[in-house]
Amino acid sequence: MQTKPVESSKRATAKKYVRHFLADFAALERDYPGGYPKMIASAEGAYVIDADGRRLLDAGSHLGACQVGHGRAEIASRIAEQVLKLEFIALDAGLSHVYVAELAERLAPLVACDEPIFSFTNSGSESNELAFKIARTYHARRGEPARTKVISRIGSYHGSTIATSAATGVLAFKSGFGPLAADFLHAPAPYPGGNVDNKDRDTWWRAALADTEALIEREDPKTIAAIIAEPIAIPQAVKIPTLEYFTGLRKLCDRYGLLLIVDEVVCGFGRTGKMFGAEHFGVRGDIVSYAKGLTSGYVPMGAVAVSGRVNEVFKEVPLLHLNTYAGHPVACAAAMAALDIMEKERLVENAAAMEPILRTELERIQQSVPRIREISVIGLLSSIVCDISDLPNPDAALRKARKEAYDQGLLVRFGRDGNNLSAHFYPPLLVGNKDIEDGVRSLEAALRTL
Ligand SMILES: Cc1ncc(COP(=O)(O)O)c(C=O)c1O
Repeated sequence: MQTKPVESSKRATAKKYVRHFLADFAALERDYPGGYPKMIASAEGAYVIDADGRRLLDAGSHLGACQVGHGRAEIASRIAEQVLKLEFIALDAGLSHVYVAELAERLAPLVACDEPIFSFTNSGSESNELAFKIARTYHARRGEPARTKVISRIGSYHGSTIATSAATGVLAFKSGFGPLAADFLHAPAPYPGGNVDNKDRDTWWRAALADTEALIEREDPKTIAAIIAEPIAIPQAVKIPTLEYFTGLRKLCDRYGLLLIVDEVVCGFGRTGKMFGAEHFGVRGDIVSYAKGLTSGYVPMGAVAVSGRVNEVFKEVPLLHLNTYAGHPVACAAAMAALDIMEKERLVENAAAMEPILRTELERIQQSVPRIREISVIGLLSSIVCDISDLPNPDAALRKARKEAYDQGLLVRFGRDGNNLSAHFYPPLLVGNKDIEDGVRSLEAALRTL
Protein backbone atom coordinates (compact mmCIF):
# COMPACT_ATOMS: atom_id res chain seq x y z
CA MET A 1 0.00 0.00 0.00
CA GLN A 2 2.90 2.32 0.91
CA THR A 3 4.90 1.48 -2.21
CA LYS A 4 3.40 3.85 -4.74
CA PRO A 5 3.63 7.22 -2.94
CA VAL A 6 7.19 6.43 -1.77
CA GLU A 7 8.20 5.51 -5.28
CA SER A 8 6.84 8.64 -6.94
CA SER A 9 8.47 10.98 -4.44
CA LYS A 10 11.83 9.25 -4.98
CA ARG A 11 11.30 9.51 -8.72
CA ALA A 12 11.30 13.30 -8.44
CA THR A 13 14.33 13.16 -6.12
CA ALA A 14 16.27 10.99 -8.58
CA LYS A 15 15.49 13.41 -11.40
CA LYS A 16 16.48 16.41 -9.30
CA TYR A 17 19.77 15.19 -7.84
CA VAL A 18 21.14 12.43 -10.09
CA ARG A 19 22.45 12.66 -13.64
CA HIS A 20 21.20 9.70 -15.67
CA PHE A 21 22.43 8.54 -19.07
CA LEU A 22 20.82 8.63 -22.48
CA ALA A 23 17.39 9.78 -21.34
CA ASP A 24 15.77 13.05 -22.30
CA PHE A 25 13.71 13.60 -19.15
CA ALA A 26 12.14 16.80 -20.47
CA ALA A 27 10.78 14.99 -23.53
CA LEU A 28 9.74 12.00 -21.44
CA GLU A 29 7.86 14.29 -19.07
CA ARG A 30 6.01 15.84 -22.02
CA ASP A 31 5.10 12.40 -23.46
CA TYR A 32 4.45 10.55 -20.18
CA PRO A 33 3.88 13.07 -17.35
CA GLY A 34 5.20 11.79 -14.02
CA GLY A 35 6.25 8.48 -15.56
CA TYR A 36 10.05 8.76 -15.50
CA PRO A 37 12.53 7.74 -14.29
CA LYS A 38 11.26 4.24 -13.71
CA MET A 39 12.42 3.08 -10.28
CA ILE A 40 13.96 -0.39 -10.05
CA ALA A 41 13.70 -1.81 -6.55
CA SER A 42 15.22 -5.30 -6.66
CA ALA A 43 16.33 -8.07 -8.97
CA GLU A 44 16.53 -11.83 -9.15
CA GLY A 45 18.01 -14.09 -11.83
CA ALA A 46 17.35 -12.61 -15.28
CA TYR A 47 14.59 -10.32 -13.96
CA VAL A 48 14.32 -6.97 -12.19
CA ILE A 49 11.35 -5.83 -10.12
CA ASP A 50 10.28 -2.21 -10.16
CA ALA A 51 8.91 -0.15 -7.29
CA ASP A 52 5.36 -0.97 -8.41
CA GLY A 53 6.13 -4.70 -8.20
CA ARG A 54 6.31 -5.20 -11.97
CA ARG A 55 8.73 -7.96 -13.09
CA LEU A 56 10.82 -7.26 -16.20
CA LEU A 57 13.32 -9.37 -18.15
CA ASP A 58 16.64 -7.54 -18.02
CA ALA A 59 17.71 -7.97 -21.63
CA GLY A 60 20.21 -5.11 -21.61
CA SER A 61 19.82 -2.66 -18.74
CA HIS A 62 22.89 -4.21 -17.12
CA LEU A 63 24.77 -2.88 -20.21
CA GLY A 64 26.27 -6.31 -20.84
CA ALA A 65 27.69 -6.76 -17.34
CA CYS A 66 25.31 -9.29 -15.82
CA GLN A 67 26.36 -12.80 -16.86
CA VAL A 68 25.33 -14.93 -13.85
CA GLY A 69 22.01 -13.22 -13.10
CA HIS A 70 20.96 -10.81 -10.39
CA GLY A 71 20.75 -11.45 -6.65
CA ARG A 72 23.12 -14.43 -6.38
CA ALA A 73 23.48 -15.38 -2.71
CA GLU A 74 26.82 -17.16 -3.43
CA ILE A 75 28.38 -13.87 -4.53
CA ALA A 76 26.80 -11.90 -1.67
CA SER A 77 28.27 -14.23 0.95
CA ARG A 78 31.74 -14.22 -0.64
CA ILE A 79 31.70 -10.41 -0.72
CA ALA A 80 30.60 -10.24 2.95
CA GLU A 81 33.34 -12.71 4.00
CA GLN A 82 35.92 -10.68 2.10
CA VAL A 83 34.92 -7.40 3.72
CA LEU A 84 35.41 -8.97 7.15
CA LYS A 85 38.74 -10.58 6.20
CA LEU A 86 40.39 -7.76 4.25
CA GLU A 87 38.29 -5.08 2.66
CA PHE A 88 41.12 -3.11 1.06
CA ILE A 89 44.83 -2.69 0.75
CA ALA A 90 46.54 -1.01 -2.20
CA LEU A 91 48.92 -2.91 -4.48
CA ASP A 92 51.58 -0.35 -3.70
CA ALA A 93 55.08 -0.06 -2.28
CA GLY A 94 55.82 -3.79 -2.28
CA LEU A 95 52.46 -5.01 -0.93
CA SER A 96 50.19 -7.57 -2.52
CA HIS A 97 47.43 -9.91 -1.33
CA VAL A 98 46.39 -13.49 -1.98
CA TYR A 99 43.01 -12.55 -3.46
CA VAL A 100 44.41 -10.67 -6.45
CA ALA A 101 47.08 -13.35 -6.91
CA GLU A 102 44.42 -16.08 -6.99
CA LEU A 103 42.24 -14.16 -9.45
CA ALA A 104 45.11 -13.48 -11.86
CA GLU A 105 46.24 -17.11 -11.66
CA ARG A 106 42.70 -18.23 -12.46
CA LEU A 107 42.36 -15.87 -15.43
CA ALA A 108 45.78 -16.63 -16.94
CA PRO A 109 44.92 -19.93 -18.68
CA LEU A 110 41.53 -18.60 -19.83
CA VAL A 111 42.46 -15.41 -21.68
CA ALA A 112 43.45 -15.11 -25.34
CA CYS A 113 46.83 -13.50 -24.56
CA ASP A 114 50.19 -15.34 -24.31
CA GLU A 115 51.93 -15.53 -20.91
CA PRO A 116 49.69 -12.78 -19.56
CA ILE A 117 50.39 -10.41 -16.70
CA PHE A 118 47.37 -8.52 -15.37
CA SER A 119 46.70 -4.97 -14.22
CA PHE A 120 43.34 -4.38 -12.53
CA THR A 121 41.15 -1.29 -12.97
CA ASN A 122 37.63 -0.16 -12.06
CA SER A 123 35.96 -0.01 -15.48
CA GLY A 124 36.25 -0.69 -19.20
CA SER A 125 37.23 2.92 -19.92
CA GLU A 126 40.10 2.75 -17.43
CA SER A 127 41.22 -0.57 -18.90
CA ASN A 128 41.44 0.90 -22.41
CA GLU A 129 43.06 4.08 -21.11
CA LEU A 130 45.76 1.96 -19.47
CA ALA A 131 46.11 -0.16 -22.62
CA PHE A 132 47.00 3.03 -24.57
CA LYS A 133 49.58 4.05 -21.96
CA ILE A 134 51.15 0.59 -22.04
CA ALA A 135 51.28 0.52 -25.86
CA ARG A 136 52.95 3.92 -26.12
CA THR A 137 55.42 3.17 -23.31
CA TYR A 138 56.28 -0.18 -24.89
CA HIS A 139 57.40 1.48 -28.11
CA ALA A 140 59.16 4.36 -26.35
CA ARG A 141 61.20 1.93 -24.26
CA ARG A 142 62.19 0.04 -27.38
CA GLY A 143 63.57 3.22 -28.92
CA GLU A 144 60.53 4.26 -30.98
CA PRO A 145 58.96 7.16 -29.02
CA ALA A 146 57.33 8.50 -32.20
CA ARG A 147 54.91 5.57 -32.16
CA THR A 148 52.07 7.33 -30.36
CA LYS A 149 49.08 6.99 -32.72
CA VAL A 150 46.29 4.53 -32.06
CA ILE A 151 43.93 3.32 -34.77
CA SER A 152 40.36 2.35 -33.91
CA ARG A 153 37.37 1.71 -36.15
CA ILE A 154 34.43 3.88 -37.12
CA GLY A 155 31.33 2.64 -35.27
CA SER A 156 33.28 1.34 -32.26
CA TYR A 157 32.89 2.28 -28.58
CA HIS A 158 35.83 2.22 -26.18
CA GLY A 159 34.76 4.34 -23.21
CA SER A 160 33.93 7.72 -21.78
CA THR A 161 37.27 9.29 -20.72
CA ILE A 162 39.07 11.87 -22.86
CA ALA A 163 41.35 9.29 -24.53
CA THR A 164 38.79 6.51 -24.88
CA SER A 165 36.30 9.03 -26.29
CA ALA A 166 38.97 9.95 -28.83
CA ALA A 167 39.28 6.25 -29.71
CA THR A 168 35.50 5.83 -29.92
CA GLY A 169 34.24 5.96 -33.48
CA VAL A 170 30.69 7.17 -32.85
CA LEU A 171 30.35 10.96 -33.13
CA ALA A 172 27.41 11.21 -30.73
CA PHE A 173 29.56 9.88 -27.88
CA LYS A 174 32.50 12.22 -28.41
CA SER A 175 31.20 15.56 -29.66
CA GLY A 176 30.85 18.76 -27.68
CA PHE A 177 33.64 18.23 -25.14
CA GLY A 178 36.34 20.31 -26.82
CA PRO A 179 39.65 18.77 -27.83
CA LEU A 180 39.98 15.07 -27.01
CA ALA A 181 43.28 13.20 -26.67
CA ALA A 182 45.59 13.58 -29.66
CA ASP A 183 46.80 10.91 -32.08
CA PHE A 184 43.69 8.76 -32.42
CA LEU A 185 42.85 7.76 -35.99
CA HIS A 186 39.82 5.95 -37.38
CA ALA A 187 39.74 3.20 -39.96
CA PRO A 188 36.56 1.91 -41.60
CA ALA A 189 34.55 -0.82 -39.88
CA PRO A 190 34.31 -4.23 -41.57
CA TYR A 191 30.72 -3.25 -42.23
CA PRO A 192 28.65 -0.43 -40.84
CA GLY A 193 25.71 -2.37 -39.41
CA GLY A 194 22.20 -1.38 -40.37
CA ASN A 195 20.93 -1.73 -43.88
CA VAL A 196 23.73 -3.64 -45.55
CA ASP A 197 22.95 -6.62 -47.73
CA ASN A 198 24.75 -9.83 -46.92
CA LYS A 199 26.18 -9.98 -50.40
CA ASP A 200 27.91 -6.65 -49.75
CA ARG A 201 29.61 -7.86 -46.56
CA ASP A 202 32.45 -9.52 -48.42
CA THR A 203 33.20 -6.30 -50.29
CA TRP A 204 32.99 -4.32 -47.04
CA TRP A 205 35.53 -6.28 -45.02
CA ARG A 206 38.04 -6.46 -47.86
CA ALA A 207 37.75 -2.70 -48.41
CA ALA A 208 37.98 -2.03 -44.64
CA LEU A 209 41.19 -4.02 -44.32
CA ALA A 210 42.72 -2.43 -47.43
CA ASP A 211 41.77 1.05 -46.16
CA THR A 212 43.27 0.29 -42.74
CA GLU A 213 46.55 -0.69 -44.39
CA ALA A 214 46.44 2.43 -46.59
CA LEU A 215 45.91 4.55 -43.44
CA ILE A 216 48.93 2.95 -41.76
CA GLU A 217 51.10 3.61 -44.84
CA ARG A 218 49.83 7.18 -45.24
CA GLU A 219 50.44 8.08 -41.59
CA ASP A 220 53.86 6.34 -41.54
CA PRO A 221 53.88 3.01 -39.67
CA LYS A 222 56.74 4.26 -37.47
CA THR A 223 54.32 6.72 -35.84
CA ILE A 224 51.64 4.13 -34.96
CA ALA A 225 51.56 2.31 -31.63
CA ALA A 226 48.51 0.08 -31.85
CA ILE A 227 45.19 -0.91 -33.34
CA ILE A 228 42.31 -1.27 -30.87
CA ALA A 229 39.33 -3.40 -31.87
CA GLU A 230 36.38 -5.10 -30.20
CA PRO A 231 35.96 -8.64 -31.59
CA ILE A 232 32.29 -7.76 -32.11
CA ALA A 233 31.40 -4.07 -32.00
CA ILE A 234 27.90 -3.21 -30.83
CA PRO A 235 27.08 0.49 -31.32
CA GLN A 236 24.24 0.90 -33.85
CA ALA A 237 24.08 -2.90 -34.33
CA VAL A 238 25.90 -6.08 -33.33
CA LYS A 239 28.58 -6.23 -36.03
CA ILE A 240 30.12 -9.67 -36.46
CA PRO A 241 33.23 -9.43 -38.63
CA THR A 242 34.46 -12.21 -40.87
CA LEU A 243 37.29 -14.44 -39.69
CA GLU A 244 39.40 -13.13 -42.57
CA TYR A 245 38.94 -9.53 -41.43
CA PHE A 246 39.85 -10.09 -37.79
CA THR A 247 42.84 -12.33 -38.56
CA GLY A 248 43.74 -9.71 -41.18
CA LEU A 249 43.96 -7.05 -38.45
CA ARG A 250 46.34 -9.31 -36.49
CA LYS A 251 48.51 -9.74 -39.61
CA LEU A 252 48.58 -5.97 -40.26
CA CYS A 253 49.81 -5.40 -36.70
CA ASP A 254 52.56 -8.01 -37.14
CA ARG A 255 53.59 -6.64 -40.55
CA TYR A 256 53.96 -3.06 -39.32
CA GLY A 257 55.16 -3.66 -35.74
CA LEU A 258 51.93 -2.42 -34.09
CA LEU A 259 50.36 -3.88 -30.98
CA LEU A 260 46.86 -5.33 -31.21
CA ILE A 261 44.66 -4.19 -28.31
CA VAL A 262 41.59 -6.43 -28.14
CA ASP A 263 38.70 -4.75 -26.31
CA GLU A 264 36.80 -7.61 -24.65
CA VAL A 265 34.84 -5.29 -22.33
CA VAL A 266 31.45 -6.32 -23.70
CA CYS A 267 32.31 -9.57 -25.54
CA GLY A 268 34.27 -11.13 -22.68
CA PHE A 269 33.14 -13.75 -20.18
CA GLY A 270 30.79 -15.78 -22.31
CA ARG A 271 28.53 -13.15 -23.83
CA THR A 272 29.10 -14.35 -27.41
CA GLY A 273 28.93 -18.08 -26.67
CA LYS A 274 32.69 -18.42 -26.21
CA MET A 275 34.61 -17.32 -23.12
CA PHE A 276 36.14 -14.41 -25.11
CA GLY A 277 35.06 -12.81 -28.37
CA ALA A 278 38.49 -13.13 -30.04
CA GLU A 279 38.19 -16.94 -29.74
CA HIS A 280 35.73 -16.84 -32.67
CA PHE A 281 38.64 -15.80 -34.86
CA GLY A 282 41.51 -17.64 -33.14
CA VAL A 283 43.23 -14.27 -32.56
CA ARG A 284 45.41 -13.49 -29.53
CA GLY A 285 45.92 -9.91 -28.39
CA ASP A 286 49.16 -8.24 -27.31
CA ILE A 287 47.05 -6.27 -24.84
CA VAL A 288 43.49 -7.24 -23.90
CA SER A 289 41.03 -5.13 -21.90
CA TYR A 290 38.17 -6.48 -19.78
CA ALA A 291 35.48 -5.23 -17.35
CA LYS A 292 31.70 -5.87 -17.01
CA GLY A 293 31.37 -9.70 -16.99
CA LEU A 294 34.61 -10.11 -15.00
CA THR A 295 32.61 -9.64 -11.78
CA SER A 296 29.24 -10.04 -13.48
CA GLY A 297 28.61 -6.44 -12.42
CA TYR A 298 28.45 -7.18 -8.67
CA VAL A 299 31.42 -4.92 -7.88
CA PRO A 300 33.04 -2.60 -10.45
CA MET A 301 36.27 -4.09 -11.78
CA GLY A 302 38.22 -4.07 -15.03
CA ALA A 303 41.46 -5.70 -16.07
CA VAL A 304 44.18 -5.45 -18.71
CA ALA A 305 46.19 -8.49 -19.79
CA VAL A 306 49.57 -7.82 -21.37
CA SER A 307 51.47 -10.58 -23.18
CA GLY A 308 54.83 -11.78 -21.87
CA ARG A 309 56.53 -10.40 -25.00
CA VAL A 310 55.17 -6.88 -24.41
CA ASN A 311 55.82 -7.12 -20.70
CA GLU A 312 59.58 -7.61 -21.27
CA VAL A 313 60.05 -3.82 -21.33
CA PHE A 314 58.43 -3.46 -17.90
CA LYS A 315 60.54 -6.05 -16.11
CA GLU A 316 63.46 -3.81 -15.20
CA VAL A 317 61.65 -0.46 -15.07
CA PRO A 318 58.01 -0.69 -13.93
CA LEU A 319 55.20 1.30 -15.54
CA LEU A 320 54.48 4.39 -13.44
CA HIS A 321 50.71 4.09 -13.30
CA LEU A 322 48.86 4.34 -10.02
CA ASN A 323 45.27 3.39 -9.35
CA THR A 324 44.05 3.32 -5.75
CA TYR A 325 41.51 0.52 -6.09
CA ALA A 326 43.39 -1.73 -8.54
CA GLY A 327 42.88 -5.35 -7.51
CA HIS A 328 40.39 -4.38 -4.80
CA PRO A 329 39.95 -7.51 -2.61
CA VAL A 330 36.15 -7.25 -2.60
CA ALA A 331 36.09 -7.07 -6.40
CA CYS A 332 38.48 -10.05 -6.54
CA ALA A 333 36.09 -12.04 -4.32
CA ALA A 334 33.13 -11.10 -6.54
CA ALA A 335 35.06 -12.10 -9.67
CA MET A 336 36.08 -15.47 -8.22
CA ALA A 337 32.51 -16.19 -7.11
CA ALA A 338 31.11 -15.15 -10.53
CA LEU A 339 33.66 -17.37 -12.31
CA ASP A 340 32.67 -20.28 -10.06
CA ILE A 341 29.03 -19.86 -11.07
CA MET A 342 29.90 -19.49 -14.77
CA GLU A 343 31.80 -22.79 -14.62
CA LYS A 344 29.40 -24.72 -12.41
CA GLU A 345 26.32 -23.71 -14.40
CA ARG A 346 28.11 -23.93 -17.76
CA LEU A 347 26.87 -20.47 -18.72
CA VAL A 348 29.21 -20.01 -21.69
CA GLU A 349 27.82 -23.23 -23.14
CA ASN A 350 24.28 -22.01 -22.38
CA ALA A 351 24.92 -18.75 -24.27
CA ALA A 352 26.03 -20.80 -27.29
CA ALA A 353 23.05 -23.16 -26.98
CA MET A 354 20.56 -20.27 -26.77
CA GLU A 355 21.91 -18.56 -29.91
CA PRO A 356 19.78 -20.50 -32.44
CA ILE A 357 16.68 -20.10 -30.26
CA LEU A 358 17.19 -16.35 -30.02
CA ARG A 359 17.83 -16.13 -33.77
CA THR A 360 14.68 -18.13 -34.61
CA GLU A 361 12.58 -15.92 -32.34
CA LEU A 362 13.97 -12.68 -33.78
CA GLU A 363 13.46 -13.94 -37.33
CA ARG A 364 9.90 -14.91 -36.45
CA ILE A 365 8.94 -11.33 -35.53
CA GLN A 366 10.18 -10.12 -38.89
CA GLN A 367 6.80 -11.37 -40.22
CA SER A 368 4.84 -8.89 -38.13
CA VAL A 369 7.39 -6.06 -38.16
CA PRO A 370 8.27 -5.47 -41.81
CA ARG A 371 10.47 -2.51 -40.84
CA ILE A 372 13.15 -4.93 -39.63
CA ARG A 373 16.12 -4.66 -41.96
CA GLU A 374 18.77 -6.61 -40.12
CA ILE A 375 19.03 -9.22 -37.40
CA SER A 376 22.39 -10.04 -35.87
CA VAL A 377 22.97 -12.72 -33.24
CA ILE A 378 26.07 -14.27 -31.66
CA GLY A 379 25.67 -16.18 -28.41
CA LEU A 380 23.39 -14.06 -26.22
CA LEU A 381 24.34 -10.79 -27.90
CA SER A 382 21.83 -9.66 -30.50
CA SER A 383 20.41 -6.65 -32.28
CA ILE A 384 17.58 -5.78 -34.59
CA VAL A 385 17.72 -2.77 -36.89
CA CYS A 386 14.52 -1.15 -38.17
CA ASP A 387 14.12 1.36 -40.96
CA ILE A 388 12.27 4.40 -39.58
CA SER A 389 12.94 6.78 -42.48
CA ASP A 390 9.19 7.40 -42.93
CA LEU A 391 8.52 8.44 -39.30
CA PRO A 392 8.01 12.19 -38.74
CA ASN A 393 9.34 12.17 -35.15
CA PRO A 394 11.85 9.32 -34.77
CA ASP A 395 12.90 10.24 -31.22
CA ALA A 396 9.29 10.20 -30.01
CA ALA A 397 8.87 6.84 -31.76
CA LEU A 398 11.88 5.50 -29.90
CA ARG A 399 10.50 6.70 -26.58
CA LYS A 400 7.16 5.07 -27.37
CA ALA A 401 8.78 1.74 -28.27
CA ARG A 402 10.85 1.78 -25.06
CA LYS A 403 7.76 2.55 -22.99
CA GLU A 404 5.78 -0.24 -24.64
CA ALA A 405 8.61 -2.74 -24.03
CA TYR A 406 8.63 -1.70 -20.38
CA ASP A 407 4.87 -2.06 -20.09
CA GLN A 408 5.20 -5.53 -21.63
CA GLY A 409 7.82 -6.51 -19.02
CA LEU A 410 11.03 -6.05 -21.00
CA LEU A 411 14.16 -3.94 -20.55
CA VAL A 412 15.94 -3.77 -23.87
CA ARG A 413 18.34 -1.14 -25.27
CA PHE A 414 16.91 1.04 -28.00
CA GLY A 415 19.06 3.44 -29.99
CA ARG A 416 18.80 5.57 -33.10
CA ASP A 417 21.31 6.33 -35.79
CA GLY A 418 19.71 8.52 -38.45
CA ASN A 419 16.98 6.50 -40.12
CA ASN A 420 17.90 3.30 -38.29
CA LEU A 421 16.37 2.35 -34.96
CA SER A 422 18.17 -0.46 -33.18
CA ALA A 423 17.14 -2.72 -30.33
CA HIS A 424 19.87 -4.64 -28.52
CA PHE A 425 18.63 -7.74 -26.71
CA TYR A 426 21.31 -9.30 -24.46
CA PRO A 427 20.00 -10.98 -21.32
CA PRO A 428 22.02 -12.61 -18.50
CA LEU A 429 23.60 -15.87 -19.62
CA LEU A 430 21.40 -18.08 -17.46
CA VAL A 431 18.20 -17.55 -19.49
CA GLY A 432 16.26 -20.47 -20.94
CA ASN A 433 13.96 -20.90 -23.96
CA LYS A 434 10.89 -19.44 -22.26
CA ASP A 435 12.66 -16.28 -21.09
CA ILE A 436 13.79 -15.67 -24.66
CA GLU A 437 10.42 -16.47 -26.21
CA ASP A 438 8.53 -14.20 -23.79
CA GLY A 439 11.13 -11.44 -24.08
CA VAL A 440 11.10 -11.41 -27.87
CA ARG A 441 7.29 -11.39 -27.87
CA SER A 442 7.45 -8.22 -25.75
CA LEU A 443 10.03 -6.78 -28.14
CA GLU A 444 7.68 -7.56 -31.03
CA ALA A 445 4.87 -5.60 -29.34
CA ALA A 446 7.24 -2.68 -28.77
CA LEU A 447 8.44 -2.61 -32.38
CA ARG A 448 4.88 -2.80 -33.66
CA THR A 449 4.23 0.65 -32.13
CA LEU A 450 6.62 2.16 -34.70
C1 LIG B 1 33.50 -2.42 -25.98
C2 LIG B 1 33.50 -1.50 -24.82
N1 LIG B 1 34.66 -0.95 -24.40
C3 LIG B 1 34.71 -0.12 -23.34
C4 LIG B 1 33.57 0.23 -22.65
C5 LIG B 1 33.65 1.18 -21.48
O1 LIG B 1 33.39 0.50 -20.30
P1 LIG B 1 32.92 1.30 -18.98
O2 LIG B 1 31.58 1.84 -19.26
O3 LIG B 1 32.95 0.24 -17.91
O4 LIG B 1 33.93 2.36 -18.73
C6 LIG B 1 32.34 -0.32 -23.04
C7 LIG B 1 31.09 0.04 -22.33
O5 LIG B 1 30.00 -0.22 -22.74
C8 LIG B 1 32.30 -1.20 -24.16
O6 LIG B 1 31.14 -1.74 -24.58
